[in-house]
Amino acid sequence: MKANHGSLLVVDDDRYVLESMADYLRGLGHRTETAGSVREAIDRMKEYPFQVCISDVNLPDQDGFQLLDWAHRNVPDTSVILLTGYGTIESAVEAIRIGAFDYLTKPIIDEELSLTVERALEQRKMRDENKSLRAQLDRRFGLANIVGRDYRMQRMFDLIESVADTRTTVLILGESGTGKTMTARAIHQASDRRDKPFVEVACGALPDNLLESELFGHVAGAFTSANHDKMGKFLQADGGTIFLDEIATASQSLQVKLLRVLQDREFEPVGGTKTHKVDVRLILATNGDLEEMVKQGTFRQDLYYRINVITITQPSLRERIGDIPLLVEHYLHDFNEQTGKNVRGFDEESLQLMQRYPWPGNVRELVNVVERAVVLCKGDVVTVHDLPEALQREDLIAHGLAARPAGASLKTALANPEKQIILEALEQNGWNRQNTARTLGINRTTLYKKMKKYGIEFEHQLQY
Ligand SMILES: Nc1ncnc2c1ncn2[C@@H]1O[C@H](COP(=O)(O)OP(=O)(O)O)[C@@H](O)[C@H]1O
Ligand SMILES: [Mg+2]
Repeated sequence: MKANHGSLLVVDDDRYVLESMADYLRGLGHRTETAGSVREAIDRMKEYPFQVCISDVNLPDQDGFQLLDWAHRNVPDTSVILLTGYGTIESAVEAIRIGAFDYLTKPIIDEELSLTVERALEQRKMRDENKSLRAQLDRRFGLANIVGRDYRMQRMFDLIESVADTRTTVLILGESGTGKTMTARAIHQASDRRDKPFVEVACGALPDNLLESELFGHVAGAFTSANHDKMGKFLQADGGTIFLDEIATASQSLQVKLLRVLQDREFEPVGGTKTHKVDVRLILATNGDLEEMVKQGTFRQDLYYRINVITITQPSLRERIGDIPLLVEHYLHDFNEQTGKNVRGFDEESLQLMQRYPWPGNVRELVNVVERAVVLCKGDVVTVHDLPEALQREDLIAHGLAARPAGASLKTALANPEKQIILEALEQNGWNRQNTARTLGINRTTLYKKMKKYGIEFEHQLQY
């Protein structure tokens, strides 16, 4: 084994034992200091973060347990090895119970000492590596990565934190590009399942029969092309989290199977009879209207109740335009790094334009716009010319509607107040039909009918 050199503190009141242990450890290449009492040891540990402390139990001022206790509270990264008198097995057990890395019985045998120290250093190294891995994952997938100061986002962060450590099923609603996948990952990353797999399945991407075997696996011979047993995603996610995206596309038979997994955490692979038990946390997402689907009978009500325990609604970008400058800043930094450019920022006019645009593709669309702008930008500040034409066109349309002269407005308003109210509500809600209908207190079908009646078209509003 390659020597793993560490920084050690040896504590013993017998100067002879102390120096001979220290010399031996130094000879192995460890940086080693000594102390003759608990007080002295604490002073040294306050000055320097030793990796390992090797301490006698019997010391003149206090005993080694008290030192262990102090170290545990104040320098938890330091591993403590206690040296106990011969035959005091109770105190040895006690030492481990209160957090000693290990104990050795006096008289100390050199090889035993060196091996125990090696093990302590090895364990510590692994812990450090795990920590850095965890930090990397947090940086990529953690909550801190989700940009948003809007109160709706803050509320969402609170919710994520409070549900993370439970096994509760979470349903994430939101338009495409609002960050549903990102939130699902962040929940996993914030949970105590973070070291276990996070498995994502886009339910809309596969035909029904394939999707079932993708999720639950199949046994050889289950269907013509099934040559081998296949392990499904549920089994892969055991101990961790499974994220089922686009759940609204699930077929009736899949819905039945999902209900069973949710209720009993068990399933059989396609074509198989053996029941598998799994411990998985389910996160589901959709941009569809499940409630409406339940009403129309295309989504099972019992399944809907099961998955609709904790619901997180991702606000659309147009509902939180205050966050646009933050997101722009965040991604500008990313793309500067990626492209090696050094764009300082977006000018006022371009930011304003971005805040007026309805962002049908939400944050995903914004990320693309920022990337494109960074690439196109000739100077060191992004201007409206670096933004896609669609944004500028949208702006004209929006302005055309907004900039009505007061007199004309009154006239049209009197001529047709309902149309006017609908137009304004659409405008306010960035042409989102669902939200507009809610604002007006009517259902979506009624809104469509009325829009049709007044010749209001939304198609052109939603183009990129
Ligand atoms: N709040 C946010 N902060 C930073 N980036 C975000 C945020 N929301 C979404 N994104 C980015 O937008 C893109 C789309 O997000 P995603 O989670 O895939 O959306 P959805 O799953 O709802 O379609 C991703 O690149 C994601 O990193
Ligand atoms: Mg997604």
